[in-house]
Amino acid sequence: MSGIDELFAAAAQVRARAYAPYSRFAVGAAIRGAGGGLYLGCNVENAAYPSGACAEQNAIGAMIAAGERRIAEIAVLGDALEPVTPCGACRQRIREFADISTRIHAGALSGARRSYGMAELLPDAFGPDHLNGAGA
Ligand code: THU
Repeated sequence: MSGIDELFAAAAQVRARAYAPYSRFAVGAAIRGAGGGLYLGCNVENAAYPSGACAEQNAIGAMIAAGERRIAEIAVLGDALEPVTPCGACRQRIREFADISTRIHAGALSGARRSYGMAELLPDAFGPDHLNGAGA
């Protein structure tokens, strides 16, 4: 099994625990941290719809809680015709902990997959460096 296969297998496992009674669209996300650790998240919806959280968001929370700060790669998995790419807000969330080598793997249960670099998914992104140069 390749590293990407392992990441998608982990994403499939955590996807099975998604709480998505409203959309019925379960998503799993698995992060490989720069230090080699694996961090998982699934989407957690809410009766107050905007209070729901994406799988990527929760995987990032698990990564940060474990003390890791860099995403080497992240796999996102859902049941769609096309590979499931992170939503706009999650692209920004991933960007915070990404670097030039970070890979984002989108997948569908059918087996369709596509991989991206951060700049492909969020070109010219606002990031921590902007704030480091800020202020009078
Ligand atoms: N969702 C994710 O968790 N990640 C994505 O990349 C796309 C969308 C969730 C949010 C919501 O719970 C459901 O999928 C339908 O949008």
